[in-house]
Amino acid sequence: STPLRIGIAGLGTVGLGVIDILRTHATTIAMRAGRPVEITAISARSRRDRGIDLSAYAFEADPADLATRDDVDLVVEVIGGENGPAKETVEAALASGKHVVTANKALMARHGTALAALAERHGACLRYEAGVAGGIPVVKALTEGLAANAVTRVMGVMNGTCNYILTKMEATGEDYSDVLTEAQALGYAEADPAFDVGGMDAAQKLALLTIAAFGTHVDIDAVKVEGIEQVTLTDIRYARDLGYRIKLLGVARSGDGAVEVRMQPCLVPAQSPIGQLESVVNMVVIEGDFVGQTVFQGPGAGAGPTGSAVVADIIDIARDIRVPTFGVPVADLREYPTTTAGSP
Ligand code: HSE
Repeated sequence: STPLRIGIAGLGTVGLGVIDILRTHATTIAMRAGRPVEITAISARSRRDRGIDLSAYAFEADPADLATRDDVDLVVEVIGGENGPAKETVEAALASGKHVVTANKALMARHGTALAALAERHGACLRYEAGVAGGIPVVKALTEGLAANAVTRVMGVMNGTCNYILTKMEATGEDYSDVLTEAQALGYAEADPAFDVGGMDAAQKLALLTIAAFGTHVDIDAVKVEGIEQVTLTDIRYARDLGYRIKLLGVARSGDGAVEVRMQPCLVPAQSPIGQLESVVNMVVIEGDFVGQTVFQGPGAGAGPTGSAVVADIIDIARDIRVPTFGVPVADLREYPTTTAGSP
C-alpha cells in the first residue's frame, strides 16, 4: 500500500522524539495506520550533529520548502513560535493540500481557526494534539470520544514546567531559578521559559481546548492570565501548612450565554486529585452533560509524551480519519462572547 511520506520541520526535543518513535515502532505503526509511514525530508536551522543518523532524509534549509516537495504528504511542524517560519511552513503546506501535524500551541491559539479554514479549503487535515497537555489525548477526547456531549466545564493543570517548579520547590526548598534551570535541562520548558512561568503557555492550551469544547472562537488576548513568577517558597509552605498546594490552574466554563476562560495560580486542597499532581504531570478535567466528569492525567511535556501525540495524529491521518480541526467546520464555530468575569 502507498506509504504516507513525512517531512519534519524542526529538530529540537520534539522533532527528535518523533523520529525516534517512527523508527522504533515502524512495524506496529504501519499495521495500525494500514500503510507504512516514512520520513522523507527534514528541515532545521543547522545540520549540526544531533547524535542520530539523519543521512537517509533530504534536507531543506527553509522549512517552507518541505511544502513544495513531491515526496512529502504530511508536514510535522515542531519549530515553535506563533509567527515566522512555523506559520509560513504550515500555511505553505496546507495551501498545497498537504496535511499538517503540529505541536505548536502558540501558533494554533493565535491563528488556529484561520489555519483550519485554510486546511478545509484545500482538503487537508490540520491536527495539534501534541500542543495541548503533551501526551494526554485531550483534543481527541473532545473532538471524538466525548463528541456526544455538551461540555459544561474544562479545567486543569496544563503546564508541566510550572508544576515541576512548584512541586520541586516544595519538596526540596530549592530556589525558583535553580528549579527552572532543571526544567529547561529536562526539555520541559519552552524556548523562552517566560511563556511557561508567565502562564501564557497554559493559557494557549486552555484556549485551544475551549474552542473544541464549546465550539466558539476564543480571542487569546481576552483570556485572563496570571503566572507563577510571584509565588514564593514562603507562599508554598504556608499553603502546605494549611492543607493546600499552589497550582497553576486553568478553567473554562459556559454559563449566562458566555464562556469564561482564566488561567491563574490557585490554592487547591492537597488531598484532591489536582492537589496531588507531582512533577511534570498534567491533569485535564472535562465535564459533559451526559457523560459527567472525566479526568485525564499524564506527562505534559518532554520528547516522549509530545512525540507520542504527534505520531498518534500522523497515524489517524494515515488511516484517512477526517476530523475537523476543532471538532466542527470553522464556519460553524460561534462568535460566542467570552468573558473573564467571576471566579473559578
Ligand atoms: N513548556 C510546556 C510545559 C511544554 O512545560 O508544559 C509542553 O507544552
